[in-house]
Amino acid sequence: MTGPGAEALLKQLEATVEENLDRHLASAEDWMPHEYVPWAEGRNFAVLGGEPWSAEQSRLSPVARTALELNLLTEDNLPSYHAELGSTFGRRGAWGLWVNRWTAEEGRHAACIRDYLLVTRGVDPESLERARMATMQAGFDSGAKPLLHACAYVSFQELATRVSHRNTGRYCADPVAEKLLTRIAMDENLHMLFYRDLVKAALEIAPGQTLRAITDEVTGFVMPGSVIPGFARKAARIAQAGIYDLRVHHDDVIMPLVRHWRIFETEGLDAEGEQARQELAAALETLDARAARFVARRAEAEAALDPGRAR
Ligand SMILES: [Fe+2]
Ligand SMILES: [Fe+2]
Repeated sequence: MTGPGAEALLKQLEATVEENLDRHLASAEDWMPHEYVPWAEGRNFAVLGGEPWSAEQSRLSPVARTALELNLLTEDNLPSYHAELGSTFGRRGAWGLWVNRWTAEEGRHAACIRDYLLVTRGVDPESLERARMATMQAGFDSGAKPLLHACAYVSFQELATRVSHRNTGRYCADPVAEKLLTRIAMDENLHMLFYRDLVKAALEIAPGQTLRAITDEVTGFVMPGSVIPGFARKAARIAQAGIYDLRVHHDDVIMPLVRHWRIFETEGLDAEGEQARQELAAALETLDARAARFVARRAEAEAALDPGRAR
């Protein structure tokens, strides 16, 4: 790899981190997670003389429950993400301030989704707790990504999380859940903006190196929730329901950032950058084709189940 090393990049990007942090603090609204939870609906479980959980107590559909559970367990693994970001970005100066602020904001996401689900009996609390223990014990290891790779990854990841919370909220068909998840999605959006603009600055400082990082993160993208027990099966159900599928991933997560960074309009790239950009173009084409195949197969399967709905 050519270009500045991690230490030099941390220094060169520090002013941007400081600027982005100031902007973030000015635009982030303080919000109170407890105000989004319908506490009056809550009641005791069996050990305290109440009723044990059963599925018919929930007003959510099974797929909505699965989506909320995946989102929650992904948020639950925050200590792993905090450790990873802390070791990549460091704990000093603006970088350290950002890591702590970001962690504090992320911390309320799991707290209020869990409160909502327990109070409304939207999830089996025993299987949720077992899954939380398994997820956090597995931890999340992104493979010690270099700085620019980490910045590209979290840009896509924050946007993926925003879209996933927002689409889950809509799918729930429960105004309380939708309001809560829309609120969380607004946090994720500000996180995405922070990283998106950091990558933008990196593209100016070290274009070839940054393009290489973006390409690697698009081609090797793995959801942090992949360590959750039964993730592949659950993610498939969510894709089937259109909450988060390859089409959403390509159209609403990858492409908006690729366009914003003006990757295909950048001139004067070095050989490394040119090579990365060609690989990225090919990867985007493949992803788009896979998304089209997925959507076509899903439509066929739906038509086979319900011929009246076929066009
Ligand atoms: Fe979050
Ligand atoms: Fe976030």
